[in-house]
Amino acid sequence: MTKPRVLVTRRWPEAVEAKMAEVFDLTINRDDRPLGPDDIRAAMADYDAVLPTVTDRLPAPVFDLPKTRTRILANYGVGFAHIDTEAAKSHGIAVTNTPDVLSECTADIAMTLMLMVARRAGEGERELREGRWTGWRPTHLIGTKVSGATLGIIGFGRIGQAMAQRAHHGFGMKILVQNRSKVAPEILARYNAVQVDTVEDLLPQCDFVSLHCPGGAANRHLINARRLDLMKPTAFLINTARGEVVAEHALAQALWFGTIGGAGLDVFEREPLIHPDLKDADNLVMLPHLGSATRETREGMGMRVLQNLRDFFEGREPQDRVA
Ligand code: DGY
Repeated sequence: MTKPRVLVTRRWPEAVEAKMAEVFDLTINRDDRPLGPDDIRAAMADYDAVLPTVTDRLPAPVFDLPKTRTRILANYGVGFAHIDTEAAKSHGIAVTNTPDVLSECTADIAMTLMLMVARRAGEGERELREGRWTGWRPTHLIGTKVSGATLGIIGFGRIGQAMAQRAHHGFGMKILVQNRSKVAPEILARYNAVQVDTVEDLLPQCDFVSLHCPGGAANRHLINARRLDLMKPTAFLINTARGEVVAEHALAQALWFGTIGGAGLDVFEREPLIHPDLKDADNLVMLPHLGSATRETREGMGMRVLQNLRDFFEGREPQDRVA
């Protein structure tokens, strides 16, 4: 049997690239620069499977081809809002993602941001590196206590729950949850969490708010100026979900005017560009989209793609099919 032709749009950890090459007729974008929609469109005429990531854009026009060879888009990542899944479906193309394997590490990065911004770790590190530290003093870089505070989690899927696990069991935090559907009482009970109906109900009650909902049009600017205004002036916003969930201009203003206490961001609206007004905010910690960036997780994501492809081409339903 001829091996399916598979295109990987970015470099992957070597161990997974090697495994994939054993099974498929594999092409890797060795330049490791994002492909444009036209490149992806051309690839869909030539490859049985295209394996995109968050840096690829697959809007509806990409699927508009006289003849498409691609039968599956196996996304390397859990978030797939960059793929128009309706358009894929209408062209008979399956879409899969890589859930589970990255939940723990993404929640670790959300905790990292929460601790860093609350305890002013970024400011402290900059002070040291720039030679501005004058020594211990009782009033130096006073932060906010995390243990025992109230954390609001928006989006209570796998990553939201991994965050609750850390915050409640590790830091004794009180957990409030807002989710688009009702969360089973036994799941809430694991973290002694309380579900509220709306984002408006949640925001005024929290010392920290962590976003774990999907990106895409439905959640674009879910956190906007009006909702930032509902947060306590001492509260912190953490975003490890997708950049578009937060209106960056409104956040920059809220940080500048002290509408909220601070923020921690791992994701941005126009990655890799950073909104210029965010760069000078001292009460902001920024990381370059590191949520899933551990060797174990990135290899796990690759193995999950491999399994989804194997299932698909061997006639089984891939476990992570999302369209
Ligand atoms: C994910 O898996 O969605 C990460 O953000 C990388 O795309």
